[in-house]
Parts: sequence; C-alpha cells; structure tokens
Amino acid sequence: MLNWDDYHQEETPAAKAAKTAAPANPAIAEAAVNAEAAAKTEAPAQAQAAVQAEPAPAEDSAAAQVAADNVAEAARALENMDVAPGLEELEMGAARVSVDEKAMINCRADLNQLVPFKYDWAWQKYLDGCANHWMPQEINMTADVATWKSSDGLSEDERRIVKRSLGYFSTADSLVANNLVLGIYRLITNPECRQYLLRQAFEEAIHTHAYQYCIESLGMDEGEVFNMYREVPSVAKKATWSLSHTHHLSDPAFKTGTVEADQTLLRNLIGFYAVTEGIFFYCGFTQILSMGRRNKMTGVAEQFQYILRDESMHLNFGIDVINQIKLENPHLWTDAFKQEVIQMILEGTQLEIEYARDTMPRGVLGMNAAMMEEYLHFIANRRLSQLGLPEQFPGAANPFPWMSEIMDLRKEKNFFETRVIEYQTGGALSWD
Ligand SMILES: [Fe+2]
Ligand SMILES: [Fe+2]
Repeated sequence: MLNWDDYHQEETPAAKAAKTAAPANPAIAEAAVNAEAAAKTEAPAQAQAAVQAEPAPAEDSAAAQVAADNVAEAARALENMDVAPGLEELEMGAARVSVDEKAMINCRADLNQLVPFKYDWAWQKYLDGCANHWMPQEINMTADVATWKSSDGLSEDERRIVKRSLGYFSTADSLVANNLVLGIYRLITNPECRQYLLRQAFEEAIHTHAYQYCIESLGMDEGEVFNMYREVPSVAKKATWSLSHTHHLSDPAFKTGTVEADQTLLRNLIGFYAVTEGIFFYCGFTQILSMGRRNKMTGVAEQFQYILRDESMHLNFGIDVINQIKLENPHLWTDAFKQEVIQMILEGTQLEIEYARDTMPRGVLGMNAAMMEEYLHFIANRRLSQLGLPEQFPGAANPFPWMSEIMDLRKEKNFFETRVIEYQTGGALSWD
C-alpha cells in the first residue's frame, strides 16, 4: 500500500524542480504534474517532451492571471448568490415529509427524500429489478449465428418471425423508454415510484441493447430491421398506436392537476403499461420462446426470456401505479373513462391479432394465428381484470400454459393481487 512518504519519494526531478521554482503558480504546477504523470509511463521520450513544453515566463504569468481571475469570479458569484429562490425550491425549514403527504400525482411534498416510504411495493420492485440484473453479452449466440447462416437452419416462416420480432422490439423499447423519461417520470410525484422508473428506464436500454446485439450477431440488414416500424404495416400500426398516447405528455408544457389532464396521464399509463408492454409484446415473445423450446435460436430466445421477466415486472408495476392513482383519485375513474379504457384494450388486442396473422400466415412452431388469437383474448381478459374492468372475451382459455410458467418464475408479486407468486431466487434461467 502506498503512503505519503512513498508518494514523495516517487516524485520525479521534473516535478520537484517545477515546485521549487514556482510553488504558488498553478500553471507551472499543472505542467509539472503532467510531466510527472508522463514520466510514470513507459515512454521516457514523452516525459522529456512534457518537461520541454513548460510555458515560457510571459505566457506563464498571463495564464496565472487568467487562473486568478477565474478563482476570483467564482468567489464573487458565491458572494452574490441570492439564497431566496433556492430556499423556496428546497422549502428550507419546512416540516419534515410525512407519509400522509405523499401521493402518486400532483404531490407537493419534497421529491428528493426517498423515505419515509409510502409505496413499499414500488421500492420492493426496484430491489427485485436490481436482483434480476443481466446483460445481453452474457448470452452465447454462437449456435444462433450458425443456424441463421445455414440454408436449412430455419424455415422461411421461422425466419420471418425472427425478423419481425427484432423489427418490432428494436424500436418498441425505445418508444417505451422515451415515454418514461420524457413523459411519465416528471408527472409521477413520489420518489419510490421514480426510483423504479429509473431502474425500468435502464432495463429498457438493456432491452434495446439486446435486440441490437442479436441483429448484429446474426449479421442482419440493420436498416431493414430498424425501419420495420414504419415500413411493415402490422409493425407500424402497433408503433403508431403507442405513439398516439405520448403526444400530450412529451409536450414540456403539459401539466397534471385538472381532471382532463390527469385522465390524459392515466390514458398514457394504460396505453404503455397495459397495452404496449401488456399486449403488444405477447405474440412476439410467445413465438420466439416457442422457437427456443424447440431448440432453435436458443441465444435469441434466452435474451427474450430475460426480457420477458423484466417486462412482466414493468407490467405489474404499471398496473399497481394505475390502480393506486385510481384509489387516490376516484373521480377520474368515471363510467365514460372506464368505457374508453375497455376500448383501448380491445384496440390493442385487435392490432396484436393482426400482427399474429401477418407473422403466421400458416402454422409454425406448433402454433398458428387462431391459437394466438385465443391467447390474446385470454391476455386481454387478464389486463381488464387487473384494471378492475369486466372481461370482454368470456371463457377465453390459455393455449400456451408454458408461457405463464416462464413468466411466473419471477421474483415478483403483485401488490393488488392476493395471490403471492413463488419465485426462483436469481441464477440462470432454464428451459424446463
Ligand atoms: Fe423493454
Ligand atoms: Fe418494459
């Protein structure tokens, strides 16, 4: 371990000379430090050059004057600082934040203090999200590259599914991330939920990274894949539908506080959490995970499996946020608004069914568009009941029970559901 004596012993002659010559001169001291740093490298010639580059005396005194002026300016700025606006912002001397003051939206309590907790479920989800951390490069893509490049590795229908999935998701997660950061974050007014939103935003970045990693590994045409959301109608319609719910919130002048504006925020939350992440992801996830279960494209499938685990948590967090806003603001949840939400869920379901038909013109991977339609009706019923609304597809069954098993293997429970889901503790995922 180094101590201060060692540090002084290691001083180079150049540094010592500089300090002796002008100990109070910052410019020369800096040059000496540079020289010393260079001398510590294995490039003595560079060290020599650095020593030679010491400023001439005239330049040196000009630089010293500039530095002195800068220091004086900083001191003047602090002397003249008007503390009143800062006090106002920080509410100096105000009573400490109490749990009762906290609220999901339109809250005026200090947002810089995480505790005392009111929404423990949000903090727990943040901890669970961190415990599930993963990175795309940890997954081996070698077998996928061989399968993708071989002429008989996948059928044309299977190749279409891989391309469409990467095409939709590679941009969808950016839409979600942008909506979170540019829209939702500033309007959700408690620090526990914001803490989770920050975690979610990073997870969305990881997901976009994962899709890019797959696209790059497989050597796909990046322009084609990243432009599907405006070139392939079944992909474009979903992206357009999601984007239609961000316009108000991404306006920097948008504020909550009126019934109309608060309902606009709720519409966005439902559009992104319940429909985009809660319905639009399900056909693609099911197709790719089915491929993995058949031992094809297992690297891509593993990436999707980790993403699905994160997305299940995003969805449950969003549902909890929406339900908590409803609890705190029952006047927003009018009959007309409920009807509007039912329509949103049905529109999303229909768009996902169209996507299923486009990506599965015939049976593939042990499934077909009709089975996916049934599954999406089942999913839509689930979203509606999670939001406290009546199911619209009575008796819809789940033709893919293995999807629930994959999703339920999570470190997760839903605050608003009495059923506690058992979960595995960290570690790698497996296919059985
Ligand atoms: Fe995501
Ligand atoms: Fe997400």
